[in-house]
Amino acid sequence: MIVVTAALKGGVGKTTTAVYLAAAAANGRRTVNLVDADPQASAAEWLEVAEDAELAEVNLVEAPTERLLARALERTGADEVTVVDTPPGQERLLEKAMGLANVVVVPTRVGGVETPRAAAVLELLPKKVPAGLVLTSARTFTRDYQDAVAEWAEANVAVWGSVPERVGIAAGPAGWLSPEGLEIYRGVWRRAQRAAR
Ligand SMILES: Nc1ncnc2c1ncn2[C@@H]1O[C@H](COP(=O)(O)OP(=O)(O)O)[C@@H](O)[C@H]1O
Ligand SMILES: [Mg+2]
Repeated sequence: MIVVTAALKGGVGKTTTAVYLAAAAANGRRTVNLVDADPQASAAEWLEVAEDAELAEVNLVEAPTERLLARALERTGADEVTVVDTPPGQERLLEKAMGLANVVVVPTRVGGVETPRAAAVLELLPKKVPAGLVLTSARTFTRDYQDAVAEWAEANVAVWGSVPERVGIAAGPAGWLSPEGLEIYRGVWRRAQRAAR
């Protein structure tokens, strides 16, 4: 099963989402691979220093070009899970990755220009590939957040999770995975699995 975290823009929580999803998937018995398709290698760096038990079981593959990415995905075994972290601003690579995915997770922030940006990603998505959103760094008590949830519901786009704005969740390689973040992303992972083709 190939799960792609997709956005055209940086700073929306793609890498955070990819690493937490890999950790959530690693709680089962399956082999989990995290493919870092971003030349910036932030997911790779995170995995290299992480001491979390969940991440110790995750295989890291660095695949920063279309060709390497295609090869890494070809090698995903039938009973394996591969989570792909994608780079910002590379529409072609993103389209290719989404075309090979069983399911796509689109992290997005809330409000302003963020909604049309996430909608643009969904427009690149092949029709047969299921996708859901994760609302990241969310201030769930705000009007902006409520409006975004309502807008996505109206557009018939599934929201698989909302990740509140928390220093603990966003610590990245400098800290531990947060229990709260893990619980939320386990929920996202369950929904993604159910939706996967
Ligand atoms: N739930 C969250 N709460 C607060 N900050 C977050 C959260 N998720 C991500 N961030 C922060 O937002 C920034 C971008 O996240 P990252 O996962 O690197 O996004 P991308 O890979 O899309 O560039 C990072 O500084 C990260 O720590
Ligand atoms: Mg990133």
